[in-house]
Amino acid sequence: MNMQNDDTLLQVQGLRTVFETRAGTVCAVDGVDVAVRRGECLGVVGESGSGKSVTFGSVMGLVRRPGRIDAGRILFEGRDLRALTPRQMRAIRGRDIAMTMQDALTALNPALTVGEQLAEVLEAHDEELPRGRAARRRAIRDRAVEMLGLVGIPSPGTRLRQYPHEFSGGMRQRIMIAIALASKPKLLIADEPTTALDVTIQAQVLELISDIRAELGMSVVLITHDLGVVAEHCDRVMVMYAGQVVEQGPTAEVIGQPKHPYTKGLLGSIPRLALRGEKIHPIEGQVPELIDLPAQCRFYSRCRERGVECLQSIAMQDAGPGRQARCIRLNPETVS
Ligand SMILES: Nc1ncnc2c1ncn2[C@@H]1O[C@H](COP(=O)(O)OP(=O)(O)O)[C@@H](O)[C@H]1O
Ligand code: SF4
Ligand SMILES: [Mg+2]
Repeated sequence: MNMQNDDTLLQVQGLRTVFETRAGTVCAVDGVDVAVRRGECLGVVGESGSGKSVTFGSVMGLVRRPGRIDAGRILFEGRDLRALTPRQMRAIRGRDIAMTMQDALTALNPALTVGEQLAEVLEAHDEELPRGRAARRRAIRDRAVEMLGLVGIPSPGTRLRQYPHEFSGGMRQRIMIAIALASKPKLLIADEPTTALDVTIQAQVLELISDIRAELGMSVVLITHDLGVVAEHCDRVMVMYAGQVVEQGPTAEVIGQPKHPYTKGLLGSIPRLALRGEKIHPIEGQVPELIDLPAQCRFYSRCRERGVECLQSIAMQDAGPGRQARCIRLNPETVS
């Protein structure tokens, strides 16, 4: 997991992101390690409030006050993103890493047409555009039409002139994906791209992301509630709980033989994995408040397998080749 080899595109080590609130310091992301390899799709699952969006918002340099990154390294192609200036970070964000947000309507600019928003990205990042002004404008328009066509927007030439509010929710998600893909990023982070969509559109959007991934050889981080989606589209999966990674490994193995009681709970809440569009309703109880957590397993209060040995901080344990889980039961001799 901590190996940095040529295949590693993104490497996050010991990431801690906190929010200062009146009630205290909320530790939304607490010591997260994650690696994304070139060309792979990594699934990120966990209940709402487990720190998925904040983890990858941190990678994108998009954490705003009262939040801040408190510790950790974020390496992209070996470059430390935390050491970059805001201007350098903007360049990375446009060119190398793109993220689609959970809520397309707030992520798109309501004052610009879809064509204008696509043109902005293409203008900044498409190196193959001609130099002459008229030819350049035409080329940008052609590319914008092509991108909208690619994400399945009918009559793209006409729809380029429309504003975000003139599109349905499903279309807006696809437009956001088109804008994210227009810069041909090396890494696409898709934050719950299908949560708001009906089942048919969900499948289309996911197929689209998979196709473009294969075509461009890009890496994808797919944040989702839906383990069925992970099973179908992701090479590896990382399960988050209460600001920490609690299990990670190859998808088929994690789903086939989960090691952490929380992962088992997530799977148990979906009778058949083929059942799609189903939200996760795992295990009784709630994710703990992420303020002043006691030094014990964070899953303790909800865990069916808990014992006194769980009343200490639990480190990640090796759980087979390429697999880890944060449960003391995997290695009862470990004291951390
Ligand atoms: N702006 C904020 N102010 C205070 N706390 C926040 C803020 N944004 C996120 N958090 C905290 O971070 C936790 C994790 O949030 P998030 O990453 O959005 O979860 P997920 O994407 O897994 O649903 C939330 O439960 C919340 O406590
Ligand atoms: S460490 Fe203990 S409480 Fe935590 S998941 Fe494992 S068995 Fe459950
Ligand atoms: Mg989220």
